[in-house]
Amino acid sequence: MRRKIVAGNWKMNTLLQDGKDLAEAVKKKAGQGLPENVTLILAPPFTHLAGIKQILPDNIGLAAQNCASENSGAFTGEVSAAMVASTGAEYVIIGHSERRLYNKETDAELNKKLKLALSAGLSPIFCCGENLHEREKGIHSEVVRKQIELGLADISEEEFKNIIIAYEPVWAIGTGQTATPDQAQDMHRFIRIQLEGMYGSKTAGDTTILYGGSCNPSNAGVLFANSDVDGGLIGGASLKADDFLAIANSF
Ligand code: 13P
Repeated sequence: MRRKIVAGNWKMNTLLQDGKDLAEAVKKKAGQGLPENVTLILAPPFTHLAGIKQILPDNIGLAAQNCASENSGAFTGEVSAAMVASTGAEYVIIGHSERRLYNKETDAELNKKLKLALSAGLSPIFCCGENLHEREKGIHSEVVRKQIELGLADISEEEFKNIIIAYEPVWAIGTGQTATPDQAQDMHRFIRIQLEGMYGSKTAGDTTILYGGSCNPSNAGVLFANSDVDGGLIGGASLKADDFLAIANSF
């Protein structure tokens, strides 16, 4: 059975102490019970990782929001996958649309990041998703197909088993406009079929595919009810412990 995951991408929010307080609040509420087979993951800014690791119990995962596409060396300001792993984090978000857009991250660069993350023993949460223009032109499936194919190039089935996919339509991120349950299910199904072609039906069937984009306590239930939607990558609503846990409890 594939894992259900609700991950909170805090983006560039919270000062260190606020982040620690939020992690404490999530831990406390999660301790009151979660649906079976649901894993929570928190993705705070780099600066918070080591401190928040001290707070989280073993059953709440910790993720970085990015890592470098090089191993080490003269890359001022970059943080390597191995450095992320050394904080105790187990996951790293790679290919978020905000990084593709603002930091001009290419498919080839993301492929390098995925490989470095896997070598560091991290489980990548690999993001894909079309923008509004691409959705309106009706080329959304083609865009996502290419992101998956190029991003996962030369990654073996054994390696891929450690990867979580997140479908995040750019037009739904932070806009309050969520994909309809049908739009989400159709794309998740499409992604799983593509993964089947790459890695076979068993591995594709075991892959967790998260939905992200204005997911909140009111719409999470109908989104997660779809057979190929295995949870969410949550932005804004993950900054409030009550909302984040309400989303996790909507399975
Ligand atoms: P929002 O939930 O704020 O739309 O953000 C989604 C997202 O980008 C998560 O990575």
